[in-house]
Amino acid sequence: MGLTDPGKKIRAEAHARRVRDMFAQISPSYDRLNHLLSGNSDKRWRRTVVEKLRPMLSADALVLDVACGTGDLSIALFENIGARVVGVDFCRPMLQLAAQKKQAIAFVEGDALQLPFADAAFDAVTIAFGLRNLASIEHGLQELRRILKPNGWAAVLEFSKPKWPGFRSLAAVYCNRLLPRIGGLISGSRSAYEYLPDSVGRFPDQETLASMMRDSGFVDVAFQNLTGGIAALHTGRRT
Ligand SMILES: C[S@@+](CC[C@H](N)C(=O)[O-])C[C@H]1O[C@@H](n2cnc3c(N)ncnc32)[C@H](O)[C@@H]1O
Repeated sequence: MGLTDPGKKIRAEAHARRVRDMFAQISPSYDRLNHLLSGNSDKRWRRTVVEKLRPMLSADALVLDVACGTGDLSIALFENIGARVVGVDFCRPMLQLAAQKKQAIAFVEGDALQLPFADAAFDAVTIAFGLRNLASIEHGLQELRRILKPNGWAAVLEFSKPKWPGFRSLAAVYCNRLLPRIGGLISGSRSAYEYLPDSVGRFPDQETLASMMRDSGFVDVAFQNLTGGIAALHTGRRT
């Protein structure tokens, strides 16, 4: 990850452990809760990623899905584009669920901040609801760029900031009050579903993330709001 400050390194490792343990704990109910809590919007958002990347990829493209979790985006890319897809995640129970769903995809254990792949190995890279969980967004973006071939595309799907103030307040009530209760009841981990709105709140807004992508060496950076900005899809090309 290139962290030279020992204090920062220890904090980053502790953060990674917490995140990995949290996803391991909620893995059995992860998919069900995703669909329930988003009213199935998560499926539509992942389909938007596929449609965005489709014109940029040939059928034999090699795509890396970082922080693939239970594999839904990896599978959507594989089934709809016909691309060769590799999924990578550092949480084994999430990966095991992914592998059970689609054996034709290689699901690999690895850290998004130290991807176990050579430079310039992939035609495209995706990360869905993963960047927010990394100890360093900047390092995560640099790793995405490193493993891309020149002209390769990155697609970042993440929760974001709703555009309209009224809708933003409504979404905040849902995220901060309702979601931890429902998520806690079903998954048995209320803290995981309190972490969700906290991490969304800390995550940069659409324009800031776009400018961080530019700073990390991406060009043609653009984003589209999804469901009024509850989520956003950012894309950028490696030069
Ligand atoms: C909210 S889930 C998203 C999973 C999947 N992409 C989806 O769309 O449902 C976040 C995933 O990021 C993974 N993750 C978080 N930090 C990671 C890291 N440093 N390296 C690899 N995976 C990481 C977690 O294990 C978890 O599976």
